[in-house]
Parts: sequence; structure tokens; C-alpha cells
Amino acid sequence: MKSKQEHWDEIFSAKQDTELGWYEDDLSQTLNLLNNIAISASSTLFLAGAGTSKLVDELLKTKAKLLVNDISAKALEQLSQRLDTSQCQYLHHDLSQSFDESFAVDVWIDRAVLHFLLTEEQITHYFDNLKNTVKCGGYVLLAEFSSTGATHCAGLTVHRYSTDEMQKRLGDKFELIESNEYVFVNPFQQEMPYIYALFKRTI
Ligand SMILES: C[S@@+](CC[C@H](N)C(=O)[O-])C[C@H]1O[C@@H](n2cnc3c(N)ncnc32)[C@H](O)[C@@H]1O
Repeated sequence: MKSKQEHWDEIFSAKQDTELGWYEDDLSQTLNLLNNIAISASSTLFLAGAGTSKLVDELLKTKAKLLVNDISAKALEQLSQRLDTSQCQYLHHDLSQSFDESFAVDVWIDRAVLHFLLTEEQITHYFDNLKNTVKCGGYVLLAEFSSTGATHCAGLTVHRYSTDEMQKRLGDKFELIESNEYVFVNPFQQEMPYIYALFKRTI
């Protein structure tokens, strides 16, 4: 059986970015939520499962330090070749496993990654990593398939989310700032309902 890394590496090796079912040209849904946050050159942003997203290119404009994570070494290789910048640090790590080093970040951004974790153990490790990483006063932006969203993506089953479940798993140190339902229309003209939610760590 293929490992998770092999699964994702194969996808990134076989397809151009615009052929990926999650490819988005219009990043405004994410950027509008990030407008709630003062991001500057002294900020550190964690991009969970960034893949080859153009969001990374866009966030470079903030001058913030970017910790760019993915389970796929292939995706990180393609991204680092495209960007050629010292503003990014690449973290090849499976977010369903505990971090073996510690980071402190101002913003954690996840679009379409958390929903691939299925077991309670995987999901708990993900949220423990997040809670150990986001500073007090920092933010978390989660954008996942909503309760009415697709049940599968990239050949994998997904766990769909509501804002309530996100809040429950984050716990009472995190306060909801804003959440929106958003229907993403993918490159194959399929409608993919997402829930976008921005939380602030208050304690
Ligand atoms: C659907 S893609 C989304 C990519 C990117 N966030 C975007 O919006 O374009 C899912 C991404 O999550 C990565 N991924 C999947 N499982 C992961 C895990 N357990 N840890 C870290 N990254 C993971 C995949 O390699 C892939 O890049």
C-alpha cells in the first residue's frame, strides 16, 4: 500500500497546478479573512499543507517569514524552485504526527488539509501541533470542506467540518472572529462547499 507521502508526491508529479482539483486563482476568500490581521515583516506565518498554492506567492508580499509545510516533498520542491526566496522555510512534516521541533507563529493557515485527517489520533495530533505553535494573540484560519461539502478529494475520504466542530477541537483559548460558507468552483467547474473560519488565540 502507498504511503500518504507517496500518494501526494504522485499527484504533484503527474499534474500541472491548474489540473489540480483544488487549484484556485482567486485567493480573495482567504485574503479577505487575513485582512483582519496586522501582518508585517516581523510576523511568522505557518502554511499547513501549502502544496503549490499561489497563496504562498501572495503572502511573500507581506514580507512576513513563511514556514511552508507539506507532507509531499515533491510539492515543496516545486514550490521552492518557483519562489527562490530566503523568506520561506520549508517543513517536510506529516501534520497528523507530533512535531519533533517547536515553532512559535502568529498565524496558522490551512486550506483543504485538515479534512484529510480521519482518525481521532491524527486529528488530535494536528490540533496539539497547532495549539503548541500559535502564539497567544495569534490567529488560526481553517478552510475545510463543510458539512454539505464533498465526501472525497484527491482519491481520499475526507472529514467534513462545521465551525462548531472547529471551535470544540480548538478549545476555549480560541475565539471565533469570523466564519463564512464559501462555494469554491474548481477547475472542472464542480461546486465545492467550504467553511472558512478565523479564530484568535486569546490566552
Ligand atoms: C488539497 S491540497 C491543498 C493544497 C493547498 N493548501 C491549497 O489550498 O492549494 C492538500 C495538501 O495537503 C498536503 N497534505 C495532505 N496530508 C497532509 C499531512 N498529513 N500533513 C501535511 N500536509 C498534508 C498535500 O500534500 C497537499 O499539498
